[in-house]
Order: sequence, then C-alpha cells, then structure tokens
Amino acid sequence: MLYRLLCVYLALVGGLVSTSPLHHEAEEEYDPMHPQRFLFADLAPTASTDQRAKRSSASMPKLRFEPPSPNEQHAQYWNNVAQDILDRQLHKNRLNRKVAKNVIMFLGDGLSIPTLAATRVYLGDESTELSFERFPYVGLSKTYCANVQVADSACTATAYLAGVKANYGTIGLTAAAALGDCQAQNDTSNHVHSIAKWAQDAGLSTGFVTTTEVTNASPAGMYAHTANRNWEYNGAIEKDGFDPAVCQDIASQLIHGEVGKHMRVIMGGGRREFLPTHETDIDGIRGRRTDGEDLIKHWQHHHSHHRSAYVQNRVQLLETNTAHGETDYLLGLFSSKHLPYHLDADEQQIPTLSEMVSTAMDILERNDNGYFLFVEGGRIDHGHHYTQPIRAFDETVEFAKAIEMARSRTSQDNTLIVVTADHSHTMTMSGYSSRKNDILGVNNGQRADDELPYATISYANGPGYDRNVQREARLDLNRVDMRDKSFAFPSTVPLGLETHGGDDVAVFASGPWAHLFSGTYEQHFIPHAMAYAGCIGPGRTACTEQQS
Ligand SMILES: *[C@@H]1O[C@H](CO)[C@@H](O)[C@H](O)[C@H]1NC(C)=O
Ligand SMILES: [Zn+2]
Repeated sequence: MLYRLLCVYLALVGGLVSTSPLHHEAEEEYDPMHPQRFLFADLAPTASTDQRAKRSSASMPKLRFEPPSPNEQHAQYWNNVAQDILDRQLHKNRLNRKVAKNVIMFLGDGLSIPTLAATRVYLGDESTELSFERFPYVGLSKTYCANVQVADSACTATAYLAGVKANYGTIGLTAAAALGDCQAQNDTSNHVHSIAKWAQDAGLSTGFVTTTEVTNASPAGMYAHTANRNWEYNGAIEKDGFDPAVCQDIASQLIHGEVGKHMRVIMGGGRREFLPTHETDIDGIRGRRTDGEDLIKHWQHHHSHHRSAYVQNRVQLLETNTAHGETDYLLGLFSSKHLPYHLDADEQQIPTLSEMVSTAMDILERNDNGYFLFVEGGRIDHGHHYTQPIRAFDETVEFAKAIEMARSRTSQDNTLIVVTADHSHTMTMSGYSSRKNDILGVNNGQRADDELPYATISYANGPGYDRNVQREARLDLNRVDMRDKSFAFPSTVPLGLETHGGDDVAVFASGPWAHLFSGTYEQHFIPHAMAYAGCIGPGRTACTEQQS
C-alpha cells in the first residue's frame, strides 16, 4: 500500500517537473505568484516578450505603498513589541484552576477569522487588537454539524450550548430528530439540555442578550427544543402542516418552558413572535401569532409576584433600576424584528450591546451562587449574508466593546469569559494593498487582468455578483461608492444571499480554566469545558475532580 502511494507520488512529481508550465515560468524573472514589481511603480518595467509579464506590467497601478512609520523602520520597535508579547505569554505558566462562579459566553454569529483581521483595519490599523484578542488562551473549533459540512446557527447552537452535534436547522434535539420532524420534537428522549438548564439546576441565575430576535436560532439554543429553527411562532408550524400543540413554537417555549420561565434576563428583538395578529406593537407592527395569545402579558403575569420589568426601548431600559437590586426579572424587546444594525439604529430607541450586557450583569450578579450569561452579536452574520462588510465589521466592533466592558467589570479569579463564533463565512481579504489601505476600498497594490481595480474584500458567493458584473465585464469599482453601507461587495458565484463557510472559528478564553480552550477541538466540547470550570452540568467538573 505504502509502496503504491509512493509510486503515485513519484509519477505526479515527475509529471510536474517535466511538463508543468510552472517549471517553464520558474526561469522567468517575474514570479506571478508573489508579485513584486508593483512595489516599485516608479521603476519602468523591463521589456519582456512574455505576454503574461506584459499584461502584468500593464496592470501596475501608479500607486506606491505608504512608507512604514518611522518607528516601524527600526528592528528595535518590533523586538520591543515581541518582548511585550513574550511577557504576556510567560504569565500563562500560572494556570487558573479556581472555580468559575460566573460564566459569560459571547457568540459572534458568523464571526469568521478573516472578519477579525479585516475589522482591525476597519478600526484604523492592522496592529489594532480587538478586546478579546488579548485573552490568554485561544483555540479552534470545528463547526460541522451531524449531517452537514457547513453549519447553520441552529445545529451549532445545539453544539456550543448543549454539547451535542445536531442536524442542520434543528435546536436542542439529538441528530435522531430530522429537520422539520414535529413528532421527533415531541419525543423528549430526543431532547438535549443546554448549559442554561445545567446552571439553573445548580442554583445559578441565567440570562441572555442578543441583537437578533430572542427567538432566533442562537439564543433559542439556551431554552428551546425544535425540529425547525423557523418555528418561532405558532403559525409557522401550522403553515408546515403540523399542530403547534404537539411541537410547540420557540416563543411559547421561551415564555412557558421550564428553562425559559426561569430565565432572569431576556433581551433582544422579536416582539412580533409574542403578539397575536390582531395586536400591533409600539412601532405599529402587527403580531404574528394566530392563537390569539399575547405572550408578553403571559410573561408579565408569571412574574407578577417577582420584581420584574418589561421594557421596549433604550430609555425605558436605562430608567429601570437594575443596579440597586430593584429588578429580578427583565424582559427587553426593543424591536418587532431583529434589532437594527448598530450603524442604522436610532440611538434613543435601541440600546447598544454593551448597555444590554451591563444591565443583564446588574441583575445576574446578585446571585451568590453565580450566573451563566449568553450574549450574541447576532448581526455580524447578516452583514456578511448581504455581502455588506461594513455592517459586519461595525457589529464586530460593538461586540468587542461589550466584551471589554464585561471583562473589566468582572474578576479573572471567578468569572470565565469565552468568546467564539458559530460558523465562518466566505469573506476573504486579498491582494497586496498598502498598510492601512481602506479595508472597504479597492486594492491599491494591483489591478486585475481586466485592467480594473478589485476590492480587498470579496466573497465566494452572494448577491454582490450581479451588482459587480455588467454584461461580460466587471463594474469599475473606482466609479462607485464602495463606502455606501449597502454596497454589495463582489462575489464569485451569484447567489441571493451569501452562505456560511466551513472553516474553523476561533475560541478566546479568559478566567478560571481558560486553558481548557486552547487547541483544536470539536465545537460541542465548548459547553462541556464551561461546565467543568463552573462545576455545573452532568459531566465531570473541576469540583468533583478535586475531591478525588
Ligand atoms: C407527545 O408526547 C407526549 C408525551 O411525551 C405524548 O403523550 C403524546 O401522545 C405525544 N403526541 C403525539 C401527537 O405524538
Ligand atoms: Zn447566517
């Protein structure tokens, strides 16, 4: 077997050496794989008879790279930066094996690794650090689901919250339940419980904050069991020909379910999923429920014997007395649908992610047993689907701010913070632009073979295809406003909405047992490790290990 492989290998290598055009070109001075001439745009290209080299020299833009800052021209500068990093790394020798009283999980929906690098440039410079990039331990999470290569936010929520890989589109169910199988949803032997339940069972307070509808796939992973992530209100189940009495909708599960009922903090958008069709919300938008139920009233009724508050805009949220223990249960629904992107939001109406998280912490911190808080930056994903990277980057900035606030407000001695994404996207950051070149602009190092500029940011697929190709030819990006928030960045494959990507996502951890999150592992390991650190859940924990 080995011998045969070796023969195949030798045959391939032999073929390459004797016939590949690469071999022929290796003798040319120009290396098309690592272009350099454009670095010296003011030098006349040397004459060449090679067609390809001619085209390449014609493609040289009349642009020069910005010279590096004076500091950065000295080796000492880079050596100092590296020595500072070394200091930071050496501190990791002291592993934090304390018990995590509190665990906060931050989930950047669709926060791919390329999004991190691009957001740094968006913030002004490649060397910028996002708050969570200073966390001491980083790992890679493998995001595939039980039946798909490239995951969605439902099956991944089941993985990173309930610790089990599930089928595409399903939440809180094992992979025995197929997408849309109402009977399988009703069968409790298919149910898997999330870390929110483990925390509640251990007497911790729980809550979640999202910028999407509170019934959206990621937060639903905290409290729901559903065979279809779209079954957010009863009518969606009826439309699919099932009885909502058999497979309960997600909004009902949040209000009436065992885990949802005990949630101290629920914040995000999605009022319409909770209101009947004959009612409109404060924005005049009609409810979706066909069962006549006003679930917001149900929530208020459940918690009428608690100190509870229902708030619908930023002013009401900030006026709610959470800092001095006047509120034990909080429902904040700030929009009929998803919250608007931070870039588009009316600042009076829509709280920032940091404000929501801060309020949530006010309430949860009052439990001496600790808390589990789930926070989703949910619209990074949507910016990417529309190939509008400015929105994805801006949402990432808001996400990073909320994490910075939470980390500075808590102690690394008792609060574990884990930051990750559910899945990647197809965005890429390409070419050889100058340092600090506008990440939302055209590549300034090179033109493409059609003599047109190309965008530094592009996508493998998505709506940006049609808007960037005009009959046979590409759109000239120098003649459009790429800074327009709604500009769809180019994609290779035409598709109404850009898809997720199947590559790994990063996991950043800080606090007790953060070192458990280094390495490359399965996404569904994440809640097992959080539960270990927090001494909750059905698996092994730091507390049981220390006894034995
Ligand atoms: C749903 O599950 C319950 C108990 O788990 C069972 O009694 C009921 O018959 C099931 N409903 C249907 C329609 O299968
Ligand atoms: Zn998505």
